[in-house]
Amino acid sequence: MSNLLTRLHLIASQFTISPDQIRQIANDFERSMLAGLHGSPSTLKMLPSYLSKPSGKEVGTFLALDFGGTNVRVLLTELFGQGQFTVHARGGKPLKDRAETYNHISGKSTAEQLFDFIAQQIATLVKPGIIYPLGHTFSFPTDQTGLNTGTLIHWTKEIETTGVEGANITALLKDALLRQNLSNVVPEAIINDTVGTLLAAAYTNQFTDIGSICGTGHNTAYLEPSPPWTKEPMIINMESGNFDQLPFTHYDMLLDTGSEKPGAQRLEKMVSGHYIGELVRIIACSLFDEGLLAANSSREALTAPHILNGAHISLLLEDETPEYSNIKSFLEKSLKIVGSTKEDRESLKKIASFVSTRSARLVAATFLGIIHHMDPNLAEHHNIAIDGSLYEKTPGYAETINLTLAQELGNKGMNVTTSLTKDGSGIGAAIATAIAVTMKKE
Ligand code: GLC
Repeated sequence: MSNLLTRLHLIASQFTISPDQIRQIANDFERSMLAGLHGSPSTLKMLPSYLSKPSGKEVGTFLALDFGGTNVRVLLTELFGQGQFTVHARGGKPLKDRAETYNHISGKSTAEQLFDFIAQQIATLVKPGIIYPLGHTFSFPTDQTGLNTGTLIHWTKEIETTGVEGANITALLKDALLRQNLSNVVPEAIINDTVGTLLAAAYTNQFTDIGSICGTGHNTAYLEPSPPWTKEPMIINMESGNFDQLPFTHYDMLLDTGSEKPGAQRLEKMVSGHYIGELVRIIACSLFDEGLLAANSSREALTAPHILNGAHISLLLEDETPEYSNIKSFLEKSLKIVGSTKEDRESLKKIASFVSTRSARLVAATFLGIIHHMDPNLAEHHNIAIDGSLYEKTPGYAETINLTLAQELGNKGMNVTTSLTKDGSGIGAAIATAIAVTMKKE
């Protein structure tokens, strides 16, 4: 074996999560859920949503605002009940453009600028004289005291806009709507995207009791059967990306140290699209430094943080050509890396493979912890609704999650399914708004 392959073999073994580790992580995760629920120190925030599962009968036309970190999206959605819905119109824009003529998520941008930009996107779908109840999917750790009030605890996903942490998000939105003369748009609910995903899937599939995002960020919500605050079941946003009882490698440490908030969001930094490309880059850089990759002119190109993202991981994994020619042209065109050998390219594909497999297995381990907490004997059917580019598009990702669940659950694995739920943020926000409007009338 060449030096490169020997080295890769070693790194791959550090990224392997054994069945014993899966069980350990699931147990630790479940313990952290209990601690968080009962107010003991925990990396899981266990944030109440003030929502339970939808009945499936929710109806009406609602605006859904989806703010998750990369884009702001607005959807005019009509719910018909019986799991039926349609999206009448869509709007939205990236929060920063490529040329950086504007950037609403940097530390130079203020809450007012960000929310004015959001309100301007809402304006594109709104006609005067009509009242629009609005549901806001705000995909960050938000401390809620009701269905329509939430304070941002802190930013995640490397966003730095000032004046938002610690502020009441619904109040920021309402003020911006007034500044844009949109008093006919009425915010009624604020939810996390994991909660939206759970709601959207449960609207059509009553067995859904877990909602998860495996995309740019990672987080999971579930239906807590007996929350300590109320007698009714409630959906809880765990902010599970912050879980940290995990087998970190040297490369995870390097990534964490170089990140915006070292020590925070450790699970997210091992699994989500925003970070796994970065892990591949860090590993590739270290191989260059050890003189193990042949490509010349190259280390420079790989020194820029976050030059690789989740989509690039898919590109590496999808290349089945004998010479890995798609990877070659990606390296040449996008990264200006020339002179790569077939072994270099094969190595990059291997790195992408063990990094993404580890991601899927870690996520599955947390699902096992949640299911064991909800239903220790696995007496009921549970559907896990998942949205996000990693689950949807990364080759082998969904299969690895399902296989890991099946291996651990044995015969009873039949009782657990996963399903892709697209646009959970949009449909979920509409469902939450329908619930809020009905509650107001009662
Ligand atoms: C980050 C956010 C969380 C969100 C997730 C997926 O982890 O903190 O609230 O659900 O990304 O978008």
